[in-house]
Formats: sequence, structure tokens, C-alpha cells
Amino acid sequence: MSRFDEIVNRNTPEDIKYKKIEGIDDLLPMWVADMDFRSPDEVIEALVEQAKRGVFGYPEADESYDKALTGWFKRRYGWDVDPKTVLKMPGVVLGISDAICALTKENDSILIFEPLYGPIGRAVKGNGRNLVVSDLVRKGSRFEIDFDDFENKVRENNVKMLIFCNPHNPVGRVWTKEELTKVGEICLKYHMVIVCDEIHADFVYSGHKHIPFASLSEEIKKITVSCTSATKSFNIAGIQAANIIIADDTMRRAVDRYALTTGAYGLNIMGLVATRAAYTYGDKWMDELNVYLEGNIALVKSRLAGTKLKVTDTEGTYLVWIDASEMGVEDPYKFFLDRAHIKFSDGLFFSKKAGQFIRMNAACPRSIVNEALDRMLKLPEIR
Ligand SMILES: Cc1ncc(COP(=O)(O)O)c(C=O)c1O
Repeated sequence: MSRFDEIVNRNTPEDIKYKKIEGIDDLLPMWVADMDFRSPDEVIEALVEQAKRGVFGYPEADESYDKALTGWFKRRYGWDVDPKTVLKMPGVVLGISDAICALTKENDSILIFEPLYGPIGRAVKGNGRNLVVSDLVRKGSRFEIDFDDFENKVRENNVKMLIFCNPHNPVGRVWTKEELTKVGEICLKYHMVIVCDEIHADFVYSGHKHIPFASLSEEIKKITVSCTSATKSFNIAGIQAANIIIADDTMRRAVDRYALTTGAYGLNIMGLVATRAAYTYGDKWMDELNVYLEGNIALVKSRLAGTKLKVTDTEGTYLVWIDASEMGVEDPYKFFLDRAHIKFSDGLFFSKKAGQFIRMNAACPRSIVNEALDRMLKLPEIR
């Protein structure tokens, strides 16, 4: 038995994922991107130890934190990060929003590839910038960038910033070196800033490798804001902590100055302690988790093969992007909630063109994945 087979009780009123839905007693929540697994023991112990001290004053990350962080990046992706270039923030979306405000002006154009995790587009529009969308295109069972469309839109809209996601939520791509290089070349050619959301970087499956965008070349490093966090990897999203890496001094100072004006910057004490423990002791746990998740994802793919649900290949993340359009139901999200009592993420959260898609979060014990698949396969509409 794997440690990830354990059913952890999340049945508390504070738990968003497990929030009750009236009339449904047997809900399977497979939506919001956190996991149903217990965090590594070392993370739990570090938090308990901190709590037992009983003092929760203002914290500041010291050398032990820097060492944990840079050690993780080096071991996991061969990436050298200078700790002086790291801004600590209470979240990745906040880091992205601060980068938007500090590094572009009102009405500037910012491009994203859709479908994409919804709050990113919202941060662009909410901050009074012009959102430009280039749609990812499906080739077989994976999504790719339409480079002509991307470059045309950059040129036509005088785009100043690209907000990129790697690995990509929701389409599960781990972008290759060739793809990243091509994206980077276009950004260099048009003097754009790249904000790269790498929150899913630690979930990468066989045959794929996460390449931090900023590690591609010295030139790319100078225009890149890397948004990283241990929260997805170690199931600690509720402690809200992110590390935003900006090698260029001018850009980093600008983002730092902006963050100070908002009052939302730095790490909270629990975020600091948990991140440090995770990045110090988490390698083995993370390796085992990836093997387990890869098994879950393979199960989804194989059990849904031959049905009307078209399952995208998940190369990274623990999210499975599923095209339900062949079923011919008006609202697949609602259909599975009503008929199978499974709550997926609604495709519309990621693109207004993705109403026929659902996103399944496969980061739960295998027995739950099987239960969800059993329920789905009983529905005549997917045959
Ligand atoms: C791609 C992506 N970025 C950011 C976030 C949220 O990060 P944070 O809670 O640190 O703002 C998520 C959460 O699902 C995500 O999938």
C-alpha cells in the first residue's frame, strides 16, 4: 500500500474543496487544485514545532531558507538561483499581479495562451491592461502553441508582456526546450517581459523535463519573472507562500517597490517554516508522489479510452483536461455534478470557448479515482 492511498478526512467547514452541496451526500470533489494527500511528515513536524513555540511574530527568511530554496531548484531542475534575486510573496497570483502593475502601464497589451487558469486573465483585465489571447491548438491528444498567431498578435497589439504557464494548467503540457526557445525568441524580438508561472513545476511525468524559463539563456533570464511556490507540490496551498525570482535589478526593484505599496509582501511565519522544511526534506516524498500520480493519470486515460470523452495527455500537473463535446450535453460540468455527483472544474473557468471541457483533479487516492471512473462509466451518455 502506498502512503498516498490513505483517505484523509477533509471534512471541515473551512475546506473549500469539500464544501457541501445541498442535496448531494456522496460528492466526489475533483476540482480546485489542491491534493487529498497528507503533506510530508517533516513539513507537519516543522509547523507543529513552530506552533508549540506559541509566538507568531513577524518573520524574515534567513540563510537557512535561501539554502533550502536554491538547493531544491538546483537538485530538481539544475537551475542556479541567486537568493538575492528572490522576492517573497503571499502567493503566485499576487506576484503576477504585482509584475503586471510594476512592469507595464495602463492599457498596455499583455498576452496569454488560453485555456489558462482563470485568475491570470482576471489579473490582467482587473489591473486595467488590455488582454490579448492566443488560443492553444489541439494536435492529436495534446495542445500546442500556434506560433504564427502568437507573433501576429504580439505585433498587431504591441504586446509588452507574456504571461506563460509551465507546466500548463489546464492542458498539462510540459513545454519542450524548442518550444520555450521559440517563445523566448519572439519575446526578445519584441522587447517583451516574460512572466512565467511555474507553480506546477514539480509535477512532471516520464519522458518530460521541467525547464525553468529563466534558465534558457542569459538574455532570457534578464527579461523573465519566475513565479514559483512549494504550495502545490507539498499540498500546503492554505499557507500562502511564493518565491518570485527576478534576476534583472531594475525589474526586481520595481516589483518590490510596487509590492511594498500594496502591503501584501513577504512570507507569513507558517509559510516560511513549511516551505523551508518541504524544500529541505521533500525530495523522496515528491519522487514517490510523481510515480503515484502518473499511475492515477494513466488509469483515467485507459479507463476512458473508447468513450466519448477525449482525454488530453497530461505531461505535467495533476490535472486532466477532458473534451466532453462528443457527448452532446449542454453543460458537461453540471451534467457530471447532477448525474454522477462528481465536481470537476468547469472548462469556462479557463476560457470562454471551453464550455465543453471539464478538468479533473487526479491528486487523490486511487480508490477515489476509480470510484469517479466507475460512476462516469455507468452513464450511457459517455458511450
Ligand atoms: C497555474 C496556477 N497559478 C497560480 C495558482 C494559485 O497560486 P497562489 O495560490 O499562490 O496564488 C494556481 C492554483 O491553482 C495555478 O494553477
